Amino acid sequence: MLIRHSSDVVPSEITSRRVFERRREFLQAAVGIGLSEVVYPLSSAIAAGKFPDTTKSSLSTLEKPTLFKDVTSYNNFYEFGTDKADPALHANTLKTRPWILSVEGLVKRPKAIAIDDLIKLAPLEERIYRMRCVEGWSMVIPWLGFPLATLLKSVEPLGAAKYVEFVSAADPKTMPGVNRGMIDWPYVEGLRLDEALHPLTILSVGLYGEPLPNQNGAPVRLVVPWKYGFKSGKSIVKIRLVEHEPKTAWMKAAPSEYGFYSNVNPEVDHPRWSQATERRIGEFFKRKTLAFNGYADKVARLYAGMDLKKFY
Ligand code: MTE
Repeated sequence: MLIRHSSDVVPSEITSRRVFERRREFLQAAVGIGLSEVVYPLSSAIAAGKFPDTTKSSLSTLEKPTLFKDVTSYNNFYEFGTDKADPALHANTLKTRPWILSVEGLVKRPKAIAIDDLIKLAPLEERIYRMRCVEGWSMVIPWLGFPLATLLKSVEPLGAAKYVEFVSAADPKTMPGVNRGMIDWPYVEGLRLDEALHPLTILSVGLYGEPLPNQNGAPVRLVVPWKYGFKSGKSIVKIRLVEHEPKTAWMKAAPSEYGFYSNVNPEVDHPRWSQATERRIGEFFKRKTLAFNGYADKVARLYAGMDLKKFY
């Protein structure tokens, strides 16, 4: 990823969505009185007929979400340019309907599923996750989505399937960045099958109660909160179950800088950016980066016995 200075982000003075805040106040009060599993319908103001009712997830953090304005205007989406402001400025050309996601490779029942059927595949949950970029900034994002495992189980992976490859759209007509080099398009990411099946790993189709804005990877993207943000491929068109570790776009572009695992690890610096601390967008002071981005209690066991300095 190119070097950009995070200091060019001015903490927004625009208030985040009032309705969302009210829901959080309600939730925090609910947690305070011990109702950690409250299920509530999306407020009609937010849903506006776009999504069916959603539920909250007990896997959400109670940390304050980053302002909607910052989540949707400070992005990495190189298909639309390398500047943080480029995706919000240029991704309006992305056509998200019709959109087919195919799931193929080492599976018993491959399928090609239209986005509007995918959204109905499983109940949508709000998952408020900490997200950490390798460049040293972080956000807290209220995603809407469902476990990737639901989709993967529906295609019945074969025994030989050990990894999952995620391929993003690469349309030179609507994605100007694809006409430039730097990345061997399409953008490809990968997970080990057990990582892909982990309950924290979701396919997201929305954020802040609304369909995903184009700049955040509409109409469907991956979200893996214990890994650096670049593992969470945007605007996915193909998911392939494979036997061998996929070659990801960043491993091909800069093999000395990016490894396959890319778990958030404050002890392993990127050659260009320290991973010890991070700046939460909207905050002034830096904070310490946590192992596995604070999800160690849920995911560290996946890497038992592995040297995570070697497998970074
Ligand atoms: N997916 C695609 N297809 N293209 C990209 O350039 N950038 C990655 C990831 N997914 C990227 C991508 C990086 S580097 C980050 S940090 C996150 O998306 C940013 O997601 P956000 O803009 O929704 O915060």
